[in-house]
Amino acid sequence: MTAGVSSQPFGVLPDGRAVEAYTLTNEHGMRVVILTYGGIVQSIEVPDRHGEPAYVTLGFATLDEYVTREPHMYRGAIVGRFANRIAHGEFALDGRTITLATNRGKHHLHGGSTGFDRRVWTTRPVPQGVVLTYTSTDGEEGYPGTLDLEVTYTLTVENALRIDYRASTDKTTVVNLTNHAYFNLAGAGSGSVGGHVVEINASRFTPVDEDLIPTGEVAKVDGTPLDLRTPTALASRMDDAHPELRIAGGFDHNLVLDRTGPGLEPAARVTEPGSGRVLSAHTTEPGVQFFVPGDGLTLETQHFPDSPNNPQFPSTVLRPTQTYTSTTIYAFAVT
Ligand code: BGC
Repeated sequence: MTAGVSSQPFGVLPDGRAVEAYTLTNEHGMRVVILTYGGIVQSIEVPDRHGEPAYVTLGFATLDEYVTREPHMYRGAIVGRFANRIAHGEFALDGRTITLATNRGKHHLHGGSTGFDRRVWTTRPVPQGVVLTYTSTDGEEGYPGTLDLEVTYTLTVENALRIDYRASTDKTTVVNLTNHAYFNLAGAGSGSVGGHVVEINASRFTPVDEDLIPTGEVAKVDGTPLDLRTPTALASRMDDAHPELRIAGGFDHNLVLDRTGPGLEPAARVTEPGSGRVLSAHTTEPGVQFFVPGDGLTLETQHFPDSPNNPQFPSTVLRPTQTYTSTTIYAFAVT
């Protein structure tokens, strides 16, 4: 396989705008396809222990499916301006009430009705990757400030997909960006991820109410199905009778990572015994949303949901004098 970056047309949006697909290929049989629509990771192809490739994230073959399929699952997309929920789509910022679009019941989810996952990003190839930029206008989905964004996807020679996020604003705002890839290391379409063995480096989580809004508390995972500090077969934990899992209808939780500093640190490791594929996630973020809707699992590295209404959580406020940066690396190996 020749390493490099190439692009081809992927489709045309109902309003006539063209969408491209960029293919990143490395020397070790790994291939990643990124769409200019939503900055979506459409596919990640990785060999198993016998060198057999498979698609290890859930994606669609056509643009039409990304645009029209309901429920909207944010498959592989860049999520923002604020990932996950903001209660009642409202928060106070420097003494002013900010009102956002509400798109999940009475709450704001993943940036609103037209989040970054539904925007067309200006995209250019760079060695081993692509740089995507998008300017979110002042007032978009209710957020204050014009936000200039840059997201770089790099496919490394070590079989890792690195995602670097950068943003700056002209007015004080809030920012919380993530990628919403659903992983299935046995291969997309192979069924439940119950056989996956998951380890997450988190001894605490943020409990939620029945609308999945954080209560504001930071609780220990001890004695709950969310204690994934040692490798755990997911099926052994899919007990919806447990109060934490009943509320969310399964795993859909923000786990608070055990960190020692601000740099890149291990967040999670997932092994699929059948194929031997292993995924390790490293991040600079303080939390990870672990969501398992059946045939895929997410590791959405992020600041905590509803942080703008919880001053005790790490701040998501971005001021004009600051630059938002965040990095997550999804690395693949075999065992
Ligand atoms: C959220 C889920 C939501 C899903 C949407 C996840 O990040 O935590 O509650 O249903 O995204 O696809």
